[in-house]
Amino acid sequence: MDEKRGPFLGFSPEKLRSKIATRQVLARVGLILSMLGLVLWRYGSFWQETSALKTRLRGCGGMMHNEKVVIAQSWSEIKPSSELVWYPCYDEYDCAKLELPLDWLDESDPRRATIAIIRYSATDRTDYKGPVFINPGGPGGSGVWYVKHLAPYYQSVVGRNHDIISFDPRGIGATVPNIDCWNSTVGSTSAFLWDMQDPPNVDAHPGSVYDAYAHAAAFSHQCANNIGEAGRFVNTPNVARDMLHMVEKLGEEKLQYWGFSYGTFLGTTFAALFPDKVGRLVLDGNVDAREFSEGAGTHFLVDTDAVMGAFYTYCHRAGSSLCAFYASSPETIEARLGDLLADIKIHPVIVPASPSLSSRPEIVSYSKVRRMIMSSLYRPLVVFPSLAEALAALEKGDGRPFLDLASQGGEELPLCQKQYDPNHSDPEAPTPDLPEAEGNWDATNAIMCTDARPAEGGVEEFSKYVDTLIGISKAAGATMSSMWMGCMEWGIRAKWQFHGPFEGNTSHPILFIANTADNVTPYRSASQNSKGFPGSVIMHTSLSMPSRCTALNIRKYFQTGELPAPNTVCPPDYLPFERWNVTRSTTVMIENQEMTNLDEALMELMKAPVVGFGL
Ligand SMILES: *[C@@H]1O[C@H](CO)[C@@H](O)[C@H](O)[C@H]1NC(C)=O
Ligand SMILES: *[C@@H]1O[C@H](CO)[C@@H](O)[C@H](O)[C@H]1NC(C)=O
Ligand SMILES: *[C@@H]1O[C@H](CO)[C@@H](O)[C@H](O)[C@H]1NC(C)=O
Ligand SMILES: *[C@@H]1O[C@H](CO)[C@@H](O)[C@H](O)[C@H]1NC(C)=O
Repeated sequence: MDEKRGPFLGFSPEKLRSKIATRQVLARVGLILSMLGLVLWRYGSFWQETSALKTRLRGCGGMMHNEKVVIAQSWSEIKPSSELVWYPCYDEYDCAKLELPLDWLDESDPRRATIAIIRYSATDRTDYKGPVFINPGGPGGSGVWYVKHLAPYYQSVVGRNHDIISFDPRGIGATVPNIDCWNSTVGSTSAFLWDMQDPPNVDAHPGSVYDAYAHAAAFSHQCANNIGEAGRFVNTPNVARDMLHMVEKLGEEKLQYWGFSYGTFLGTTFAALFPDKVGRLVLDGNVDAREFSEGAGTHFLVDTDAVMGAFYTYCHRAGSSLCAFYASSPETIEARLGDLLADIKIHPVIVPASPSLSSRPEIVSYSKVRRMIMSSLYRPLVVFPSLAEALAALEKGDGRPFLDLASQGGEELPLCQKQYDPNHSDPEAPTPDLPEAEGNWDATNAIMCTDARPAEGGVEEFSKYVDTLIGISKAAGATMSSMWMGCMEWGIRAKWQFHGPFEGNTSHPILFIANTADNVTPYRSASQNSKGFPGSVIMHTSLSMPSRCTALNIRKYFQTGELPAPNTVCPPDYLPFERWNVTRSTTVMIENQEMTNLDEALMELMKAPVVGFGL
């Protein structure tokens, strides 16, 4: 292949591994729309601020220092090019900006999109096997962020003779067009204040759904006004086509890809549009492609209550020393939680201001608890024990452990998807400087809502939909209804609509991975997707629970093309409420370094942030 190289850029040297190792604080990010629970992992040091407000402002990057500037300036120094020109960046990486048609359906249209790409090269060049593309999900997740922070871990799984590549999909991060529902510098304040007005959960009180819907609708209108034309070109078929273009520019014939969650929708779309360009495709934690492309789906919740059930079951099994919310049977634990929720609806818990926690009094409301529970379902292993402690304390009227759990990760923190450095902000600049972020919430909506068909029926239809979701999942149906709420009044339509069929005879069979109990990407979705692709295989369990068995099968697939036997079941390496931080390192060290690395990689990938709606 014909490699072009740009000048070296002084991207800040970062101690990648040590930084990753210190990421250990759960961030719960409250949000736009009706605010979903999200689990975000950020740097330990980043969250050590005790003042919640300070944490917020730092989270909002634009107002304060470090993090952002170096990176922002660096990306803006990379010249967009219609060929792949790599610039060494971030010490061990290469970065590029690839220019391609904004409108793939009319390539004579001179408008261009510029895709920000990052590569972590194979560290073992013997038997080099080419690049593996990663998509972290969201939608709205920044591939650049994930690869920058996690590439060595992805590589531990797929094999060190693979490059790890990703990119910021249209709408996100350093890619242009960038989606931002607010106007430039002033926007960050507006966005922040807007998020502070987040209405209660739709099931908090009779009629809550009307306020929540209006909040979401107002935001949709704001976005439509601000995004304009760009919003027509960020949906998934365009991104799949971009990915094909990147594969070609890399001099590769076919795509090798590992997509998570929403990334499985991107992968399925790619496979349906370009079946003969499939080299390897691992689709991990599946979104039901057909349903997602129709909008306002329900399948994503079919296993959610099973994950909640795991909280009751494993809390009971672990006993009172490991689970603070223990009771004499799983059913009793469930009833205990029901009583707590009913009580807190009427008597939210008040936490007075204190120097160590917050400069203002805080209220732990029913909605907050509901959202925290929902977000915990993304990361049972990590979050369940602290959730149990927080719930037990709430019963006694003590909201501090809850706030700790929440504010360690910035419970109220709006995900500051896009904050400009005021000194560099220039509305005319094609690639304005921006701080590093895992994802972009505005883009989440812009992508989802234009992949789906337009919603109809207004708030009346929507409240019926809410009832349906509550019927499917007691634990998170009401809370998760906000996922599609933001699309109900979305005014922008994509130019390139693709609603399937999601099928094709791919040039290599697809490997689907499904967790047996998953809160948003159930087995059922993998099964639906798999039907369209002859030869594809479903393997059970996903990386949301570390599993060596799963990882080794993924590696074998990338290395040799060989699929596991259909319906291979891989057990998770740990169970909820197990002391997972006390690793099996002593046993492992005896085994070999390779397995130690793999275990570490799986742990870190499990702790990676969940972006957007966790799809
Ligand atoms: C934001 O900027 C766009 C483009 O400059 C403009 O059309 C729009 O009116 C602005 N919106 C607000 C609320 O200022
Ligand atoms: C912007 O530039 C001015 C002058 O160089 C400097 O004093 C100020 O600290 C800068 N602000 C930020 C946020 O970097
Ligand atoms: C795949 O190939 C089979 C056998 O040739 C054919 O019957 C089927 O229609 C093909 N499916 C698609 C989606 O092209
Ligand atoms: C591991 O977990 C135990 C119990 O949950 C806790 O006391 C300990 O501090 C943790 N250790 C580390 C290194 O996080």
